[in-house]
Order: sequence, then C-alpha cells, then structure tokens
Amino acid sequence: MQTAQVSGSSTAFIIFGVTGDLTQRKLIPALYELNRTGRLPQPFCVIGFARRDWDDAEMQRNMQAAVVQFARNQPVDAAALQTLLKSMHYVRASFDDGTGYQSLCSLFADLKIENRLYYLATPPEAYPTIIKRLGDAQLEQCTSGWTRVVIEKPYGTNLASAQALDKAVHGVFQEDQVYRIDHYLGKETVQNILVFRFANGIFDPLWNRHHVDHIQITVSETVGVGSRAGYYETAGVIRDIFQNHLLQLLTLTAMETPVAFNADAVRNEKVKVLQSLRPLNGQDVLNNTYRAQYMAGTIDGKRIPGYKEEVGVNPDSTTETYLAARLFVDNWRWAGVPIYIRSGKALPVRATEISIQFKQVPLSLFNWRNLAGDAPNVLAISIQPHEGITLTFGAKAPGPINTIEPVSMNFDYVKTFASEPPEAYERLILDSLVGDATLFTRSDEVLAAWKYTTAILDGWAAQPVSHLPVYEAGTWGPPGADDFIGREGRAWRQLGP
Ligand SMILES: NC(=O)c1ccc[n+]([C@@H]2O[C@H](COP(=O)([O-])OP(=O)(O)OC[C@H]3O[C@@H](n4cnc5c(N)ncnc54)[C@H](OP(=O)(O)O)[C@@H]3O)[C@@H](O)[C@H]2O)c1
Repeated sequence: MQTAQVSGSSTAFIIFGVTGDLTQRKLIPALYELNRTGRLPQPFCVIGFARRDWDDAEMQRNMQAAVVQFARNQPVDAAALQTLLKSMHYVRASFDDGTGYQSLCSLFADLKIENRLYYLATPPEAYPTIIKRLGDAQLEQCTSGWTRVVIEKPYGTNLASAQALDKAVHGVFQEDQVYRIDHYLGKETVQNILVFRFANGIFDPLWNRHHVDHIQITVSETVGVGSRAGYYETAGVIRDIFQNHLLQLLTLTAMETPVAFNADAVRNEKVKVLQSLRPLNGQDVLNNTYRAQYMAGTIDGKRIPGYKEEVGVNPDSTTETYLAARLFVDNWRWAGVPIYIRSGKALPVRATEISIQFKQVPLSLFNWRNLAGDAPNVLAISIQPHEGITLTFGAKAPGPINTIEPVSMNFDYVKTFASEPPEAYERLILDSLVGDATLFTRSDEVLAAWKYTTAILDGWAAQPVSHLPVYEAGTWGPPGADDFIGREGRAWRQLGP
C-alpha cells in the first residue's frame, strides 16, 4: 500500500454520519490502522458530523471503543490510537442545518485545513442535502488544497434516481472530485484479477470465446435479512448485490487491457463492458433471470426464520432473496459466452467466487473412467472468505486402472504472503486521500450499471408474479435454480466444504 504523506499541508477527514454503524465498524478502525502504519498524511484530523448530543470528548470515547472492538490487529497500539483520537473534533448538527456547515468553516480556519475529504456515511437520502449545503457554504473547494467527496453505496435505486443524484453531485463537485465507493473493489483478490490477467502473459490468449465455455460469478451469504428487512424489502438481491458488486466483478473479469494502469484508462474499459451487455427487454428478462425467496431452515445448526417471518416484510412480498441471471457481453472477445450470475441470502456457505470454465478438449482421446467430468479445466478466483486462485485440471490417478481425476493448483493469499489481506476500507480510504480513483466507480459506469439493471426491474414490473418459488434456508435455492442453468447442459459450481 502506498502512503499519503505527500503534501505537508493539513488534511481533514470529515465523516458525515460519524455516530453510525459504518463509521464505527469500518472507517475509524481503518483510519487507526493507516495511522498505526504511518500512512496518513500529516497534519491530519478527523471531524465527525451528526445530530447526536456528543462533543469532542464523547466522540473520542466512542471512537476509542470502536477501535478496541474492531481493529483487525490486536492488541491495539495505544500511541497510534491516542494520536488519532487527539485529532478528532465533533460538529453537532442536522444535515439540513446551515449552522453545522458554518461550524465546519470555523474549524477549517482554526485548524488551517487545506485538504478536505468529505465522507458521506449517511442514509442515502441525505446525500443531496449534504452536497447542496456544502455548495451553499462554498465548501466544495479550497484555493490552497484539494477537496474530495466519498459517496457510499447505494448510489440511487434505479437509473432515474441515480441520474438525479448525479445531477445534484455535479451541481457542486467536479467529477474528478467524486469517489463512489464499492468496498468490493478494495479487496485484494479483486485487484488481483487485474494483476493475474494483465501481469501474466499466459492467460490472455485463453481469455476469450475460443477457449472459455462460460463464466459463473457467485456471491452467496449465509445470513438472512435479519434487522435489515425494512431496507431489503425495497432492494432485493438486484439492488443490494447485483447492480454494484456483481456487475463490478463482471467488468474486471471481462474488460479489455487498459492503455495504462490509471483511473481513467481502467474505468474506460470497465464502462465498455457494461455498455456491451446485451440489453434485456420484455420476455427476455423472464427468460434470463430466476428469482426465489427463502423459507425457514437451518444453517450451521442455527434456525433462520423465513423471509416472510421477518419484521418489516410484507406477507405478500415478491422481493427476491435469490437471483440467478444469464448475461452476454456482446463484443468480439465474449460473443456467445454465457455469464451466469447467482446471489442469495440464507444459502449454505458464505462465498464470493468467479469461475472461468474452459471448453472441453476437441476430441476425447482417453477412453478411461473420467472423474473430472466433461469440463475439467476451471479457474476459480475466490474473493471471500478465503482469498485465492485455484486452477483445476484432470490428472491420471496412480494405479493400473486408468482413471482421470480432477486435481488442482492453489494460490492461497494468507499462506503465500503469511498475512491477512488488509481491510478493503484501508485501501480505499488511502486511495481517496492520495487522489487515486482507479478503484472507485465513475459516473458513466454507475449509470451504465443502472441502465442494465433498471431494464430488468422494468421487465419484472411489467410481468408481475403473485409469489416467487421458495427454498429452504441453508440450501442452494429451489430446484428451478438448477434447471435455470441446467437447460443449457451446465451446472452450478459446488462451493463450500
Ligand atoms: N453499515 C455498513 O456496514 C455499511 C456497509 C456498506 C455501505 N453502507 C452505507 O453507509 C451508509 C451509512 O450506513 P450506516 O449503517 O452507518 O448507517 P447508520 O448506522 O444508520 O448511521 C447513519 C448516520 O447518519 C446520521 N444522520 C442520519 N440523519 C441525519 C441528519 N438528518 N442529520 C445529521 N445526522 C444524521 C446518524 O446520526 P445520528 O442519528 O446520531 O444523528 C448516523 O451517524 C449508508 O448509505 C449505507 O448504505 C453501510
């Protein structure tokens, strides 16, 4: 990881929503770790903004507790924690209250702040208000330093709302000041997709329709919706995972080689993938997607209530907790290669994996018992919980009876580098401080993702269903999920223990 100690000018990290969950579980522990490893710019301060009746001391107490509980390296380094805590200030105001922004101005003047990073860790409805208020108070730029804004997901709920939000953002900030965050992109293995593809010469010749049969991308969660049921009812898998994480993983897997490794060049290629997605309209939407909802079941010995039993879920809900989809990237590299995507809650294992399934040999030479199946060559990129890459191939099993068995070559991040991969938020916060937007989503990219996703939402709305197929929590979806991929003679990869 790089260091942000570049300028010597004072930098303020302003967290809107400092009393919230994200700040305490992710942002402050990440800032602590960056401070502990000497990567924060100096001088540096954290300014928290929220309604709660806190002052500087109360904010410091709460942030101390957050670091003690959530820091990934324990025990906590007391000196690194103290310097971070001492840099903290609290502004108590509602987001729509101009006096809060005047307090920010005063703090910037008192602390001689030149660089400002505004982090919107707030309910998404608050983004336009905060942005407008920052503009009204002329806090969107600073003549002597830089000003940036990091915006959390979700960025809109469909194409129209994302466009409206973009308009509000661009009414105050220039696009190069805007860092739309998707924390998946901060994960080491996600970045490793690019290194794997573009720092090694042997894979690119295989990475196309001539050699790849199909691609599968899975994001499975074992948890149900729990206390997030209210939000989930309006989101479903499609907004919660598909529009952002899944499409991001797809762009990195399918993109062409960028002309350089910088923010614009990489994002230019990612946008082209989204623009090449074959549009789904009308009946195509139903033919290429499959939705389901979980019922009660048991996962790891624990009973999970059914989706409709959760508080805040409409008894007639048709919100999908499982989604499978078949996508095509209509360009020269990928024409005709199906990309199967699945994601769901209350599934048997927690896993995020991209698997590239290569074509069979053109002619079967060995008339042997073949335990490797029809398509023995699979390259699996595991994003979580274990970060690593596995290549599976067929090998002759020892012994006089001729048998081909599947075997694999494994790269395990933790074993190879003898360390846990850093938290995604550490990487992304640091990148936003040094002004590297490569791992953040650009305006045209987020809108292209929403355009594709909104067509699916519109297709579902135009052909409503009274109920969805159901699956028992702890299973890989209803039989229909297997039929969805099975109708083309393929099967979902078996994941987990
Ligand atoms: N939590 C996560 O793990 C996670 C992961 C990925 C993305 N995100 C995204 O990050 C954002 C924040 O999530 P969260 O879970 O941290 O939310 P949260 O726990 O509900 O926190 C919301 C924060 O906003 C403040 N706030 C809300 N309305 C306000 C107002 N009118 N004026 C001033 N302060 C106000 C709250 O402060 P007071 O109520 O104390 O005033 C609190 O600090 C959301 O967009 C979410 O989608 C969260």
